[in-house]
Amino acid sequence: MSMEKSKRRLVRLAIIGTGGMARTHAKSFQAIRGAKLVAIAEPDIGRRTAFALEFGVPAAFASTRELLARADFDAVSIVTPDAFHAETSIACLRAGKHVLCEKPLALNHRDALRMVKAARAAGTINMVNFSYRNWPCIHAVAELIARGDLGTIVHVEANYLQTWLTSKVWGDWHTTPAWLWRLSKRHGSNGVLGDIGVHIVDFATYPVGGIRKVYAQLKAFPKAPRDRIGEYVLDANDSAVLNVEFANGALGTIHTTRWSSGHANRLFLKISGTKGAVEIDSERSVDSFRLCAGKDLDAVKWTEVKAKPTPNIYQRFITSIRTGRQDQPDFARGAAVQQVLDACFASDAADRPVRLKARR
Ligand SMILES: NC(=O)c1ccc[n+]([C@@H]2O[C@H](COP(=O)([O-])OP(=O)(O)OC[C@H]3O[C@@H](n4cnc5c(N)ncnc54)[C@H](O)[C@@H]3O)[C@@H](O)[C@H]2O)c1
Repeated sequence: MSMEKSKRRLVRLAIIGTGGMARTHAKSFQAIRGAKLVAIAEPDIGRRTAFALEFGVPAAFASTRELLARADFDAVSIVTPDAFHAETSIACLRAGKHVLCEKPLALNHRDALRMVKAARAAGTINMVNFSYRNWPCIHAVAELIARGDLGTIVHVEANYLQTWLTSKVWGDWHTTPAWLWRLSKRHGSNGVLGDIGVHIVDFATYPVGGIRKVYAQLKAFPKAPRDRIGEYVLDANDSAVLNVEFANGALGTIHTTRWSSGHANRLFLKISGTKGAVEIDSERSVDSFRLCAGKDLDAVKWTEVKAKPTPNIYQRFITSIRTGRQDQPDFARGAAVQQVLDACFASDAADRPVRLKARR
């Protein structure tokens, strides 16, 4: 097949789980020439019907099992709540599908490794939706650090702040299932750390490298009478502070919370090296970053640096399928981040630093 033809080759997609985030998947795939949404699986009949109608999907099923048995497609996006990512991905990989799975890849490192193994056995494309990789600034910063422009990295500050527990910025969490399951361990949530901590750990370690030691404190603050609303026990952490040591010896703090009034969805990353520093603040720009290095060091002057555009993860996934070349972030990367999260839970439970066995 010529390069031009392979660029356009039809990729037939299914989406599993059609709640809030699935809309982003559907819209993003529909914006890609030759990517066609042909089927969905969703247990809730109301959401299933409305989604199929809105996005013109010809086949809609109540379960993954039915979807795999009855629909003809090449690739799948898994957008269920976190607890279903591992088994759903493994079932789809065993059926020979390419899989884009939502973050967090799994609920623990062991399950994430089972997913990596299934992906290797299938030999299909596998990616995890660390969606802030869609921002040009993070790739530009990773390249600059890899070139050595900041010297040796010594210090990192990273945070991811949301406010939906103190505001109605994204609706009323007290009555919205998509927010309530995120607050409940029994509903398969690993709290703010599993939900968005996973993003900020990826965001910090992608340019700086892996983490070899972590000391974590996690908290679930009181938010409802008897910490319960209906079937939801509100016991999952909603604030997390990590003190970390990176594989290269750099020290860092990473924190995340759902209680940060005034910030709907802010990612911040400052990386300091022996020759300079960079800063990303998503509330300022995601297409550029600030740099203080070289002749600007003595004047402590910061310059805004524009980053070149980057394909989003949906585009990377389709391109990988068409070319057969696995792009990042893949399941192995998702598992590596999951390992850091496991270490955070172990550290919090034991109230001591925990060393990680392997890093990537
Ligand atoms: N990458 C990102 O930036 C980003 C942003 C938001 C959400 N997410 C992730 O997307 C996933 C879904 O989040 P959401 O906010 O859309 O949640 P949601 O609750 O709005 O939607 C989940 C949907 O999955 C359905 N579902 C439940 N069990 C299922 C099963 N076994 N098979 C098929 N469907 C099932 C539910 O009925 C619901 O419609 C989560 O894992 C979340 O972490 C990622």
